[in-house]
Amino acid sequence: QIKILWRGKPYFVRNRTEAEIKAAADVDVKSLRDPQPDSARVKEGHAKWLITAANCTHLGCVPLGNQGDYGGWFCPCHGSHFDTSGRIRKGPAPTNLPVPQYTFVSDTRIRIT
Ligand code: FES
Repeated sequence: QIKILWRGKPYFVRNRTEAEIKAAADVDVKSLRDPQPDSARVKEGHAKWLITAANCTHLGCVPLGNQGDYGGWFCPCHGSHFDTSGRIRKGPAPTNLPVPQYTFVSDTRIRIT
């Protein structure tokens, strides 16, 4: 499991499966409300770990993991669905779950920068 060494606010850490990574990479980003490729949302060489802010980009509720129509997160407040890359796929949220700036300080530790 990944340990976050510094956190000023809550983050999600998702350990993605190979199948999730492939499915996320295969999405046509032009079809997304907030277009961003899967590869831009993870650190190079660490594709299995996705770190995102833990607040919905609609009004700030905390989405529930491993739920929703796209298997990522579902926000119970107004029904936004995020995929396993944290990208907004359905619902009122306007943008993806943001990925903070971070660096790996070891294979199991990251520092939010
Ligand atoms: Fe998440 Fe409104 S706060 S959908």
